[in-house]
Amino acid sequence: MRHFLSLKDFTKTEILQIVDLAIEIKKELKSGTCKPYLQNKTLAMIFEKSSTRTRVSFETGMFQLGGHALFLSNRDIHLGRGEPVRDTARVISSMNDLVMIRTFDHAMIEEFAAYSKVPVINGLTDSYHPVQLLADYMTLVEHNHTQGLKVAYVGDGNNMTHSWLMLAAKLGFELRIATPVGYECDPKIVAHAREMAKESGALIVTCNDPKEAVRNATVVTTDTWASMGQEDEKAERISRFEGYMVDDAMMALAAPDALFLHCLPAYRGQEVSESVLEGAQSVVFEEAENRLHVQKGLMVWLDRQR
Ligand code: CP
Ligand code: NVA
Repeated sequence: MRHFLSLKDFTKTEILQIVDLAIEIKKELKSGTCKPYLQNKTLAMIFEKSSTRTRVSFETGMFQLGGHALFLSNRDIHLGRGEPVRDTARVISSMNDLVMIRTFDHAMIEEFAAYSKVPVINGLTDSYHPVQLLADYMTLVEHNHTQGLKVAYVGDGNNMTHSWLMLAAKLGFELRIATPVGYECDPKIVAHAREMAKESGALIVTCNDPKEAVRNATVVTTDTWASMGQEDEKAERISRFEGYMVDDAMMALAAPDALFLHCLPAYRGQEVSESVLEGAQSVVFEEAENRLHVQKGLMVWLDRQR
């Protein structure tokens, strides 16, 4: 049995297998077929943070696969009133076939997985957002945009950045990250990615200059400057991130056919300009839709490992 907590636990072959399976299942859906790969199976979804895409894509995806999803917010279950994670894990995993969790501390999801009888999927923690990266990579595959891949990430060193580090380290592409001073990635995660990069041949550059990161990039990406849980820091962050907006001038430094990715929700006029988000190079809404398809691929893949 496998859990999907971080891309660091998956090989390049496995990541590509999941994306290929997702593309196949997407084609089936688009041609009007919904094969019941997970008939009568259930997915318990625990949300300790808000979500639009993650909730809708997992719930819809599970239905399309012939199964059922349960939405469990921490306001509704005893976890939010202090029932221990290890007790919750044993109970929920005894009644369901898969569990998805969106929470704060990555250690919570690791503890849950340690006590779970069924695969646990990370639907975002403060440290990682790996299902998003599967959707991002799937979008690049569909655009035939993975040869000579050079990704520039401009913005906050957060769960998205950490997941890009893991993907680059596993797949062996170039990743340039520019963050303001004081908002860098977790140095332990960067060091781990660099260690893994020795095997894959990935090139990982971290700096504090967005222009240096974006020059000749084939993909430009960013994320909100204030993640969930950092709402109180928002005003300060907006002033500290001055010069980090991905706008037309910044996109002009990238390769002419560069694509723009954003996991959404986006804050126009902060980390990205309206013109870039809505522009011809932006594939953000395909990327969002691919959350549905890639997570269906992931759930089927995890179910087949059992
Ligand atoms: N990108 C993403 O995970 O979106 P939600 O927060 O809406 O789920
Ligand atoms: N970094 C953002 C991603 C949202 C999908 C957050 O954690 O809020």
